[in-house]
Order: sequence, then C-alpha cells, then structure tokens
Amino acid sequence: MENKLLVLNMKMYMDIDDVNNYIKKVNNLSSNVILCPELIYIPYFINKYDNIAIQSIYPIDNGAYTGCVSAYHAKKIGVSYAVVGHSECRKYFNLTEEDVNKKVLSTLNNNLKVILCIGETLEEKNALKTKEKLKYQLDNDLKGVNSNDIIIAYEPIFSIGTGNVPTNSEIYDTIEYVKKVLREKGLNLKVIYGGSVSSKNIKELSTISNVDGFMVGKSSSIPEEVLEMEKLLRS
Ligand code: PGA
Repeated sequence: MENKLLVLNMKMYMDIDDVNNYIKKVNNLSSNVILCPELIYIPYFINKYDNIAIQSIYPIDNGAYTGCVSAYHAKKIGVSYAVVGHSECRKYFNLTEEDVNKKVLSTLNNNLKVILCIGETLEEKNALKTKEKLKYQLDNDLKGVNSNDIIIAYEPIFSIGTGNVPTNSEIYDTIEYVKKVLREKGLNLKVIYGGSVSSKNIKELSTISNVDGFMVGKSSSIPEEVLEMEKLLRS
C-alpha cells in the first residue's frame, strides 16, 4: 500500500492565500505524491515538493501561441509530469483524440512523464460501452507511443465531483481490462483511479489490488484532507 501514487489535481480551486496556507501546512509528503497546481502557482510549488505536474500543455515547443504553455518550457523550469486529456480539458477545450495524442507525444518528446486521463460517461456505462470507450481512447491517445513513462488515470466522468463512485469490483474489472489493452500494446503502465476520492473512501478504495494509486480533485486542494489521505495510504 505504501507505493500507491497520489496525484493531487488542484484544478482551479485555490487563490494565492489558499496557496500560501497550503504550502505552510502540507509538508513531508512521500515521493509517491505528484502535485498538479494551477499553472500560475507552479513556481510557488516547484522548489518545495519533489514531483510537480502541469495540468495541461500545448503540443508545440515554442512560438507565437498566445495563452499556451509548452512541455518544453515546463521541463526547463523543473516540472516532471503533464496531465493530458483530463475530461474537463477534453470538454472545455473541445479536444479530439488526435489533439490528446499530440499532447502525449510532445510531453514524452520533452522527457516529461504523462498522466493520461481516460473514462466513460454515465450513458456509455449504462449502454455497457465502458470497455469500448476506453479501448478507443487508448488506441488513439497512445498512437505511436512506445514508452512506459505514462500513468493512466481511469476517471469515470460521472464520478468526478459527484460522489458517485463505482463499486470496488467494477473498478477492479475495468482496471484489469485497461491493463490487458496496455499489455497488448507492449506497455506496462501504472493505472490509477480518479473520481470523488477523499479521506472518507481512500482506505476502502486502496484495498482494490490492481489499483496503483489515485487522482484526487476537490480534496487535493484542502491541506487537512491531503495529510489525512497520505496518512491513510501509507498506514
Ligand atoms: P474529484 O476530481 O476528486 O473532485 O472528483 C477528480 C479529477 O477530476 O481528477
């Protein structure tokens, strides 16, 4: 259990006062924690914590791309991971699978590790199309990829921010399937679960044997929650 990853996806939850408070309170994290601060706060986090992820990148190294940030520049300031294809980015920025694939490739080309998010909608789950959707995403998002520097975050879209978490056996089965698809591609990757994870359920979820860790949204922006989840995961 000690080795499970904890990916803290802080989204756009914190203002600068929250950030200062967070940095004061959240100390002594294990090397299995990856922090994903809002973009403008990365310089506040980077000298204090081991593993920093950027929440999104633009898949070109540099040039006239106003409002964009490249994996190349993230790497140069010491970022070590990039989140790619989070369902909120897919939705708000209208990302296609081809866009996601370009981001994966650009991230890897710049020697950053990828946290690739995949997941099905409730409609797809109810139509028994979970596996089909996940395979479609993996086939397209990982086109031309031959690297184990990737973590897959399985995040059912209906579980994000809703408290509607699949059962342990559903998560187990889905992750088994994802790992099988990855093995068929010659990839041996960690697969983590995300969607309404908090200190209330992380212990129970960590009993799922094939889950390699968790991606946490809302609770990751609350220092007390982070410290409690770390304690529960490492105990
Ligand atoms: P949540 O978000 O923990 O707030 O459900 C998870 C995520 O979007 O990564």
